[in-house]
Amino acid sequence: MLDTRTILNPLREGMRVARAPEPTSIIIFGATGDLARRKLVPALYNLARENYMPPVFNIIGFARKPRTDDEIRAEYKDAVAEFSREKIQTETWNSFVENIFYVQSNLDDLDGYKRLKAELERFDQERGTAGNRLFYLAVPPDLMPEIVEFLGKAELNTSAGYTRIILEKPFGRDLASAVELNHRLHQVFDESQIYRIDHYLGKEAVQNIFVFRFANGILEPIWNRTFVNNVQITVAETVGVETRGEYYDHAGALRDIIQNHALQLLAVTTMEPPPVFGPDEVRNEKAQVLRAIRSLDYHEIAEATVRGQYGAGAIGGIQAPGYRTESKVAPDSVTETYVALKLYIDSWRWAGVPFYVRTGKRLPKRMTEIAIEFNLPPLSLFGKNGVNPLEPNTLVFNIQPDEGISLKFESKIPGQDNRIRPVNMDFRYNSSFGQAAPEAYERLLLDAMLGDPMLFTRYDEVEAQWAVITPILEAWGSGDDVKAAHSPQVPPPAFPNYPAGTWGPDAAEDFIQRDGRKWRRL
Ligand code: BG6
Repeated sequence: MLDTRTILNPLREGMRVARAPEPTSIIIFGATGDLARRKLVPALYNLARENYMPPVFNIIGFARKPRTDDEIRAEYKDAVAEFSREKIQTETWNSFVENIFYVQSNLDDLDGYKRLKAELERFDQERGTAGNRLFYLAVPPDLMPEIVEFLGKAELNTSAGYTRIILEKPFGRDLASAVELNHRLHQVFDESQIYRIDHYLGKEAVQNIFVFRFANGILEPIWNRTFVNNVQITVAETVGVETRGEYYDHAGALRDIIQNHALQLLAVTTMEPPPVFGPDEVRNEKAQVLRAIRSLDYHEIAEATVRGQYGAGAIGGIQAPGYRTESKVAPDSVTETYVALKLYIDSWRWAGVPFYVRTGKRLPKRMTEIAIEFNLPPLSLFGKNGVNPLEPNTLVFNIQPDEGISLKFESKIPGQDNRIRPVNMDFRYNSSFGQAAPEAYERLLLDAMLGDPMLFTRYDEVEAQWAVITPILEAWGSGDDVKAAHSPQVPPPAFPNYPAGTWGPDAAEDFIQRDGRKWRRL
C-alpha cells in the first residue's frame, strides 16, 4: 500500500502535493567508499527518520570488497553515528538497518550484475519493491562507462517498474570526455532516466534563489546590465584535500568546484524566468545561459584567470600542512587549489557585466555566497571630495554556512549632521523559520525517488559547463590527458603561492584591482 502522507514542496508552484515515493530498491555502486559513508547512507537514514522513505525499500551495496550483510550494516551504523546531522536513534536505526543488503562483485564481472538482478527480482517478489530501481554510481568517473555498459548487458536498464540512474560528479574530465560519457549513457539509458548530481542544487539556500527571484515583483526590473554593476561568486573552504588527495591531484579546483557548483550558482542567478516551474523549463533556461557564457580565447586566459596552491600555514590558530605534503599528492604537484576567473555572459540581459568567480581550499573561512553589486546613484548629494563616499547597494545570497539573504544600503547615522554609513537588511533562515534545513543529499535522493529531475543537471548543461572550462584546462595543460591546444601554454605560477589560512595568492588581488574593484571581505 502506498503511503498517502503529504509532502510539502514549496517549489511546486506553491502547492502541497500529495506524493510519496513508491517502494524501491536503491543500489549503491561504490558502497564501501567515502561518499556512501559520509553522505548517502546518513541522508537515507535521515529521510527514514522523518518518514520520507517509501513504505518498502531496499538499500543494496554493490562493490568489490567482500562484506556480509551484517558487516556492511555495522559499517553504515558507524558512518551514520559519525556523519548524520541528527543523532542516531536506536529504534529508527533498527527498522532502517533491516533494509540494507550487500552484493559483492567486481565491477567488470557480468555474473555479478546477473546476481544483482536475481537479488532485485527476489526482493520484488518477497518484499514488494515492484521492479522500481534507483542505481547510484558513487564511483570515480573513469569507472562509469563500464558500469553503465554492464548494466545494459545484464538488462538492468529496464524493469517492470521505473529504472533511474544517479551519477555522482565529476561528470567527465573535459568537454570531449563528457560528450563521450553522455553518448555512452544514452546508448543504455534514456535521458529521462538519468540524474546527474550537483549537490549544490540540493542546498536549501540555492533553491531559495528561484523563489526569491521569481516570487517577488521588485527584482525583475533591476536584474540586468542596466542596474547590476558586477557579480562576485565565492566558494571558500577551510578544509584541505583530506583523504581525497589521489582524486584531487588529478582534478584541481577548476574541475572540482568551478565546472559544476560555481557555474550552477551562476546559472540559477542569471537564467531567464522559465514559462512554468517545471524540470524541463528550468533546465532549458539554465542551459541557455550557460551556453551564453563567453568562451575565453587562449590569449585572454592569462589575464582572465588566476590559479593558486596552498602552502603550509595556520587556520584559526591550527597548523595546516602544505598541499604538496598531503597524502597521495605528488611532491611537485602543479594542481591548483585556488581559482579566480572573470566571466561574461553574452546575452541582452547581462552583456558587459563581469562575473568574478573564486574558490579555494584552506582559506580562512568556510563561506559560499553570491553578491550582486548594483550601480551607484548618478550623483552623490551627501558629500563631495571624499566626504561620505557612497558604497554600492549589494544583494547577497548567503548559501552557507549562515543561510540567508542580505541587502546593503546607505543610511543616515543618527545625529544632527548628515553623515551616512552602509547598513545591512538581513534575512536569516534560522531566525525566520527556526528549523534546520535538510541536507542537500536528502533532498536530491528524495527527488530522484519521486522522479523529479529539476534539481539534477541535464546533459546539455554539463556540456555547456565543460565548454567554458575546457579552454582553460588546455591553456593550463591541466593533467596528462588534456592535450595542450596551444603551445606554449600559460605556465603555472611558482607553487605554493598562498599560505593556508589566507585569501589566496596576491595575484588574485591584482587581478580584480586591475578592474578598479576589490574582492569582498568575508
Ligand atoms: C565537492 C567537492 O563536490 O564539494 C569537494 O568535491 C568540496 O572538494 C565539496 O569540499 C564542498 O561541498 P560543501 O557542501 O561542503 O560546500
